[in-house]
Amino acid sequence: MTTLNPHFWQEHFDQGRTPWDRGAVSPQLLNWLNSEDLRPCRIAVPGCGKGWEVVELARRGFDVTGIDYTTGAVKETGALLLSQTLTAEVIQADVLSYMPNRLFDAVYEQTCLCAIDPDHWISYATQLARWLKPGGYLYILFMQVERPGAREGLKQGPPFHCDINAMLALFNSSHWQWPDTLPTIVPHPTGWHELAICLERK
Ligand SMILES: C[S@@+](CC[C@H](N)C(=O)[O-])C[C@H]1O[C@@H](n2cnc3c(N)ncnc32)[C@H](O)[C@@H]1O
Repeated sequence: MTTLNPHFWQEHFDQGRTPWDRGAVSPQLLNWLNSEDLRPCRIAVPGCGKGWEVVELARRGFDVTGIDYTTGAVKETGALLLSQTLTAEVIQADVLSYMPNRLFDAVYEQTCLCAIDPDHWISYATQLARWLKPGGYLYILFMQVERPGAREGLKQGPPFHCDINAMLALFNSSHWQWPDTLPTIVPHPTGWHELAICLERK
């Protein structure tokens, strides 16, 4: 299995191999913003990559913190902010150990979970719960990457398949309130798709 660390991701940035990157803000973030489900607040964007969502949130008046442990990601997010004369906090840190000095009202999670080895998923979900205020919201996109190998018990990724039953176990009812509605299906540039849902931190 590939060792996942900042060096692995930096190579992707250096070689311009970033197939996950839309080159623009996610349409689902725009849906949440335009429907006013998501209004200006203190928000974290873990694994922010090139920073399209960080910039869009900053542009709309959010107090944004982008977090990524890869130098290339932090640099590109900083440059994109600068090019639009916007400001946001961009922190180079591992989401598995980062702890904010003030809790967040919301987290926007897009393709960071699926970029983390499932061995660390419980730690990551625990982190997200710790970062949020009670009553805060987790806007999350579960990457759907059903590969034939999964039927044989193979762990394949990144991106790792975020099976809905696994997600229900990870973000379970002891900490999270799920909505009654089904997730929204969001096409992804890789050809796979995401399931978008907003969970409330209890
Ligand atoms: C697949 S990319 C997604 C980037 C962005 N969210 C997007 O959708 O375009 C995953 C990003 O998460 C970052 N990442 C992966 N594991 C991380 C960790 N443990 N801590 C911080 N960042 C991490 C990588 O550096 C990379 O920028």
